[in-house]
Amino acid sequence: MKLLVATSNAGKLVEIREILAGIALELLSLREVRLPAPDETGATFHDNAAQKSTICARQSGLWTLADDSGLCVDALCGAPGVHSARYAPTDQERRARLLQALRGIPEEKRTAYFFCAVALSPPEGERILRAEGQVDGSIALEERGTNGFGYDPLFLPAEAPGKTLAELDSTEKNRLSHRGRALARLRPVLERLARDGAV
Ligand code: IMP
Repeated sequence: MKLLVATSNAGKLVEIREILAGIALELLSLREVRLPAPDETGATFHDNAAQKSTICARQSGLWTLADDSGLCVDALCGAPGVHSARYAPTDQERRARLLQALRGIPEEKRTAYFFCAVALSPPEGERILRAEGQVDGSIALEERGTNGFGYDPLFLPAEAPGKTLAELDSTEKNRLSHRGRALARLRPVLERLARDGAV
């Protein structure tokens, strides 16, 4: 049984493969099925995840899983939020812009959370299942760590005091992360899909 993972973000793909390990599904990337990543035009993470899973399922004829995620910073009224991937051209520039935007803001006011919405669509495309996950924390004063991707070197999860997500190993990150939590909720459905070919 094949499952298309509708993302072109290499960091996400690595994590999704690791989180879903042990489920008898052959995970394919957009690259492997030669499809472009759809534009993200929704106003919410759930809208974007649903849009991506629906469009890619119809285009590929495969069961499709999509993730839309981002970082919401309280002192910036929730920014970069759904625009996290487009906050600046590269990961490094996105982190630099975030640090600049928070310049002078003290540690106790740098609270933030990562949010992840996942959607699962059958080949006909209509969205049939969704789940979400969140991890609370705050934005560090400077980058630390080399694991993970994106904003990980700047995010201090409340559950791992003193460490950024980029200082955790992947097992630890996936256990507490927004993506790990969203996919843990979807896991029983994906196991059913692997077993029965339907949910
Ligand atoms: P999108 O879901 O494709 O719109 O992209 C989400 C963006 O949010 C990514 O490009 C990253 O910049 C950021 N992001 C989402 N999840 C994570 C994460 O687990 N760690 C670090 N950055 C993340």
